[in-house]
Amino acid sequence: MKVFKCKICQEGYLGDAAPTHCPFCGAHQPYLIEAKDFEISEYTLTDVSRKNLEKTLKLEVDNAEFYFCAASRTDNVADATMFKRLGKIESEHASTVTKELKIPPPDISRDKDMCSDTNVDNLAESHQREANAINHYIKFLREATQERVIEIFTALIEIEKDHLSLTQGRF
Ligand SMILES: [Fe+2]
Ligand SMILES: [Fe+2]
Repeated sequence: MKVFKCKICQEGYLGDAAPTHCPFCGAHQPYLIEAKDFEISEYTLTDVSRKNLEKTLKLEVDNAEFYFCAASRTDNVADATMFKRLGKIESEHASTVTKELKIPPPDISRDKDMCSDTNVDNLAESHQREANAINHYIKFLREATQERVIEIFTALIEIEKDHLSLTQGRF
């Protein structure tokens, strides 16, 4: 058994090998490194980095709350499981961003009325929200000049593309 640490969300993972995706934030395997090799470097956010991370925080909190709502509105076990997990992953993204901004973790509501009563509409909205997140993060990556900020947006684009694929052809 080894100890791994995710370079994106900084959560730990215990296992014989690194998982294909971080169970907390969804980052791909190359971001999961052995904890003994983990290093974090201090840096000061530029105004552009701060502004784009603040926008990311809002977007991730909003998407997390949407997913917790969608999870509560379906009897389909697979979709409820998927939505709940997506809610937790987007919550982890929001927490990751607050660490960079050096602000307290976000308040994420689990019972906001912000989704449809119809599961197929929520699948469609999930797709639209993930596509919107990807578009924003591509723009933020283009504007990024700081190594850590580039790393975060690169990883988030990969993760949100994975999420986009979950609802492909479902609505
Ligand atoms: Fe992670
Ligand atoms: Fe996502």
